[in-house]
Amino acid sequence: MKKNILIVPGDGIGQEVTEVGKKVLIKIAEKFGHEFIYDEALMGHVAIEATGNPLPDETLEKMRASDAILFGAVGHPKYDNDPTAKVRPEQGLLKMRKELGLYANLRPIKLFDELLGASSIKPEILKGSDILFFRELTGDIYFGEKGRKNNGDTAYDIAEYSRYEVERIARRAFEAARTRSKKLCSVDKANVLETSRLWREVVQALAPEYPDITVEHQFVDSAAMMLIKDPRRFDVVVTANLFGDILTDEASQIAGSMGMLASASVGDSTGVYEPIHGSGHDITGMGVANPMASVLSAALLLDISFGLKEESDAIISAIEQVLKAGFRTRDIADSTTAPEMILGTDAIGEEILKRI
Ligand code: IPM
Ligand code: MN
Repeated sequence: MKKNILIVPGDGIGQEVTEVGKKVLIKIAEKFGHEFIYDEALMGHVAIEATGNPLPDETLEKMRASDAILFGAVGHPKYDNDPTAKVRPEQGLLKMRKELGLYANLRPIKLFDELLGASSIKPEILKGSDILFFRELTGDIYFGEKGRKNNGDTAYDIAEYSRYEVERIARRAFEAARTRSKKLCSVDKANVLETSRLWREVVQALAPEYPDITVEHQFVDSAAMMLIKDPRRFDVVVTANLFGDILTDEASQIAGSMGMLASASVGDSTGVYEPIHGSGHDITGMGVANPMASVLSAALLLDISFGLKEESDAIISAIEQVLKAGFRTRDIADSTTAPEMILGTDAIGEEILKRI
């Protein structure tokens, strides 16, 4: 198979982990006889520094021309501490999602058995947890009108959803539920929000088309509580942009660490694959970032964008073997991990590559 892959490392540890993700793709191409052609582009803080724009036109053009994108992270503390900054790295991310029509963000929360002890949640509550989130990604309060009034003393962000936007993400979630345990949980705040009432109405209207799927509706506050009380009761979850953002960070603790979680953003055209962790400036340059989320993002890319399931499984199996062999990065080590088994980004990357 011949494909063009665009590598967009972005900021901070994004650069360190994406390098490992790319190496894994190169190894897969070698092993399975594919031809992957790579290009690279700037986004986020590094793009602002180079061009003044967090998502330069050149990057967007390269994105449109590629078959899939392996993405790192964007962000820099300099902007977090300056709420008045007009140009921000995150604007690049949001613009990319909108421009590429990436309305569906898939976030699989899968716990590797070897990491049962890495979470702060009790192993007996966690064991066997396997959740697939569908987070809507191009609507909601993220993209509605925002502004200030009363001389800047009042601020507003408008949350908006159209029937069509809810329907297309809900359909994807229903379809995914068909391939899993046939359970779908739709999360909203329909007791308060009008957007959530539309959301619930649309999901309910679709349900008769999927008679094999059991649909449950939960309020987001209660879902947040149930996620850590009894994560196994969830399978496929579909929710709005902001709720999905918050719930998936929470759910990352089921998998032991944010450093283990990959995501796929898909929609009308090219898919973007990225870790759910951010740019991690507190550990940037230390060589300790866990590259597994990027490597698992590469696995999702192969599976979802190219239909290469066997190749994708080979990556997941390599990670499983590395964990079984006892190797850990700092974030997933626990009190039983011997210090010599705690590896840095590149060293654990090598252990993964050896097992593909
Ligand atoms: C994510 C991130 C982004 C989001 C930020 C960086 C804008 O937290 O991808 O989850 O809120 O969507
Ligand atoms: Mn987030």
